[in-house]
Amino acid sequence: MKKTLSILAFSALCAFQGNAANEATITLLPSKESPVIAKEIYGQFAEHLGTCIYGGLWVGEKSSIPNTNGYRTDVLNALKELHIPVLRWPGGCFADEYHWMDGIGPKENRPRMVNNNWGGTVEDNSFGTHDFFDLCEILGCEPYLSGNVGSGSVEELAKWVEYITAEDGPMATLRKKNGREKPWHLKYLGVGNESWGCGGNFTPEYYADVYRRYQTYCRNYNGNRLYKIASGASDYDYNWTDVMMKNARNHMDGISLHYYTVLGWSGSKGSATQFNDEDYYWTLGKCLEVGDVVKRHCEIMDKYDPQKRIGLLVDEWGTWFDEEPGTVPGHLYQQNTLRDAMVAALSLNTFHTFTDRVKMTNIAQIANVLQSMVLTKEDQMVLTPTYYVFKMYVPHQDAQLIPLNISTREITARDGRKVPVVSATASAKDGKTTLSLVNTDLNNESKVTVDLSGISAKKISGEILTAASMNDYNDFGQPEKVTLKGFSKGYQVKDGKLTVTLPAKSIVTLSLQ
Ligand code: AHR
Repeated sequence: MKKTLSILAFSALCAFQGNAANEATITLLPSKESPVIAKEIYGQFAEHLGTCIYGGLWVGEKSSIPNTNGYRTDVLNALKELHIPVLRWPGGCFADEYHWMDGIGPKENRPRMVNNNWGGTVEDNSFGTHDFFDLCEILGCEPYLSGNVGSGSVEELAKWVEYITAEDGPMATLRKKNGREKPWHLKYLGVGNESWGCGGNFTPEYYADVYRRYQTYCRNYNGNRLYKIASGASDYDYNWTDVMMKNARNHMDGISLHYYTVLGWSGSKGSATQFNDEDYYWTLGKCLEVGDVVKRHCEIMDKYDPQKRIGLLVDEWGTWFDEEPGTVPGHLYQQNTLRDAMVAALSLNTFHTFTDRVKMTNIAQIANVLQSMVLTKEDQMVLTPTYYVFKMYVPHQDAQLIPLNISTREITARDGRKVPVVSATASAKDGKTTLSLVNTDLNNESKVTVDLSGISAKKISGEILTAASMNDYNDFGQPEKVTLKGFSKGYQVKDGKLTVTLPAKSIVTLSLQ
């Protein structure tokens, strides 16, 4: 066993140090039948964890930090650029200890609670249901509520749905008393979170029954139609998906899956910024494994639901490294380098290939937690390299997937993980074709030849995300070390073929018309 590993490590090192120019070929296969990339694949997740909500999104109306009705104006403006389709809240693990009635009514009367999952921080419940739904209205996104099954009751969850969506009745009266006359629209309802772990430590058999019971009382009021989501598996727990599909499929619209790019759950997860070439390629290989994992969960779902009525929602994904030294333990504050941007792009490229079943994904998390879009410190904000990937990929939202064939060299990373040198995804919308290309090679450029298969490319514009080093990141005092730049010289079209030269460790998006 040891011998095999060291041979692999050696071959990986050889691969990293080579300096041959890479060549890759892509054939676009446009088809009227191909599915649309659900915009919800670009979903976000905001948990009461560390400074995600308090300090990251919300500072309150009285704060000296510029805000719009309590929401940070800088963060709002940045997030609007991402066209966020859906936002999941209030957790995560926090959701199964959250009692929504503590977060309504006059803020000064709200009870405090200990956030047991995340550092034991005391939460004052000043950000509650009204604040979340108002935020979704400002961002123009669908709310996705994660309901408390672990420590809550059927009645509590049923009443939350009534409070939010009913036009009349006791819960509607309470909502109106708290300042909101009209019901909100609520589509996505998660019935528990990680019910195999922090959400109650259930067995799948027991949770399937509990799920059936809870969802029964979550009603559709006044034409509101809930899309009910069962708490799904972690990573490789295929039995969870199997039991849930067998026992509860007729009561769900979707089932979730969590997949983190993480070294392991015990011991160090590695530094977010201090890593070497081997760590870089290993991380990319681990992130790409989400493709195999999703495929296996999909195969199980296909067995019970060949019509693909039920969606698979990867409602937590992204990198998970050690917390930054000096930050509050349990707050999961981590930096974000070009490596994270690569993980974002490769993951999104992978999710695009499952558009027939994967109906939503939510990167963890939106601000100041894990692989976030923005980092804040008092009145300062920086945009992360991951933010820029989401910005570059906006044109793929709700666009028709263009399937493609790709031929590229692979790099063998630690543990035998394979990383393609070039990864690509393409889609079409409103007469424009968007082609996103990733060159994972740290040292060498990649020349990519794309057979356009008749797709018009008379007008091309492009953007690139790269950096001097894979370890580069944006921080307070150096907010623009890794930013999006125009990409106008590295490509040409001849005889129906597009040739693109991708610099080492870069992500490029081209818009063709
Ligand atoms: O995103 C952080 C945590 O990861 C979530 O609260 C939980 O669902 C998962 O384990």
